[in-house]
Amino acid sequence: MRNILLHIHPAKVNEASLRFPRTFGLGGMAALLIVIQIITGILLRFYYTATPAGAYDSVIFLKNQVLFGQFIRNIHYWSGVFMLLIAFLHFLRVFFTGAYREIRKKNWLFGLFLLLLVVLLNFTGYLLPWDQLAYWAITVSTNIISYLPLVGDSLRTAIVGGKELNADTLHTSVLPFLLLVLVLYHFWRVRKAGGILMPGTGEENEMVPVMPNLVFREFIVALVLTAVLFTVAVLFNAPLLGKANPAYSMNPTKAPWYFDGVQELLMHFHPFFAAFVIPLSVMVFLAWIPFLEYDNAPNGHWFISEKGKQSSKSTAIFAAAVTVSGILFNEYVVNFEILLHGIPAVISNGVVPLLIILVFMAGFYRFYLRRLRLSKEELVQAIFVFIMVAFIVLTITGIFFRGKDMELTL
Ligand code: HEM
Repeated sequence: MRNILLHIHPAKVNEASLRFPRTFGLGGMAALLIVIQIITGILLRFYYTATPAGAYDSVIFLKNQVLFGQFIRNIHYWSGVFMLLIAFLHFLRVFFTGAYREIRKKNWLFGLFLLLLVVLLNFTGYLLPWDQLAYWAITVSTNIISYLPLVGDSLRTAIVGGKELNADTLHTSVLPFLLLVLVLYHFWRVRKAGGILMPGTGEENEMVPVMPNLVFREFIVALVLTAVLFTVAVLFNAPLLGKANPAYSMNPTKAPWYFDGVQELLMHFHPFFAAFVIPLSVMVFLAWIPFLEYDNAPNGHWFISEKGKQSSKSTAIFAAAVTVSGILFNEYVVNFEILLHGIPAVISNGVVPLLIILVFMAGFYRFYLRRLRLSKEELVQAIFVFIMVAFIVLTITGIFFRGKDMELTL
């Protein structure tokens, strides 16, 4: 055990990097959750039947007849949810400490791929019980997927399959294997970069042995996370509704919660924009940011500088206000498709609303951000904040404020 721990870590680490608010231990937590997922996943797989006809009954059997079956299922479910949230927070912490540039470029890209894998793992797992929740979530999600040009239909078949649930192969072998290999590579690249990015020089950079300094701290974080996870798993059961029934649709029919932001976009934009143009543009932007030319070298400070902090705060407030008002305006005041009837919907309900948002963003830049004389990295940070806040607001709206018939509700 000591050898494994020492191989994963360098012999010495920067003492200042051990302070909790530097990383919040998020990368390590995500790694621990992968291990927990794999162990509980293997246990569940002993009882699970991967066919549309047998899947649901096998989960009921596991839940009711197998010793600790329900508990293991709960841990597996909640560790998946935790992993998604924690990997997302880790992604934010890496961005806001500027650790995505120069030698860390590639790790940022692999990190984005890891995030995608974590989403896919959650999604494929969500389908396996083949209950009403899974059936209708997959119906909505694959409808979203089918708007993707060229690959939409084949992607749907890749996930659902025919007699066998292909999601099972993806969820229990292909994706976990890819995740494991990539995470190990991810760790190696952190070491290759000389550890995590740290601000400043001199005293702060004193190096200390990894054992016990880092390993002890990791152990504490692992214990607390495991305790929280087990408590949640004892208190809240993983959801399971009635057996999938294509004849009885759920109302509202929602995608899994992490896709509710995209589903919310679909309520306001033409599907080509909501499911393809906007998500793809965001992904390209995220993959592109390490390759832009910046004014200064990364300094490792949270939010770059005082100005960076201030502009991020105001952009966050602006983005939340624009997104909430946009949702309300489109729901209660103007429907672009009706207002501009006669024009193809992809323009009236795609190009037009997107241009309006871009005009608002440009106005915010022109009348507020430009006065702050931001550096290029601070400006990119502001755009990132805008996108993240809009995404979070859309997701919260989709999860909590859409009721029967997907109407807005309190
Ligand atoms: C399953 C998912 C992931 C795991 C297990 C993981 C694990 C880790 C660990 C253990 C570290 C060391 C420091 C720390 O704890 O913050 C780290 C650093 C890093 N991660 Fe991740 N990570 C994951 C996802 C991501 C994502 C989604 C991104 C971004 C797109 C990312 C980008 C990075 C970068 C660039 C570093 C170096 C940070 C620095 O030098 O300060 N990782 N990761």
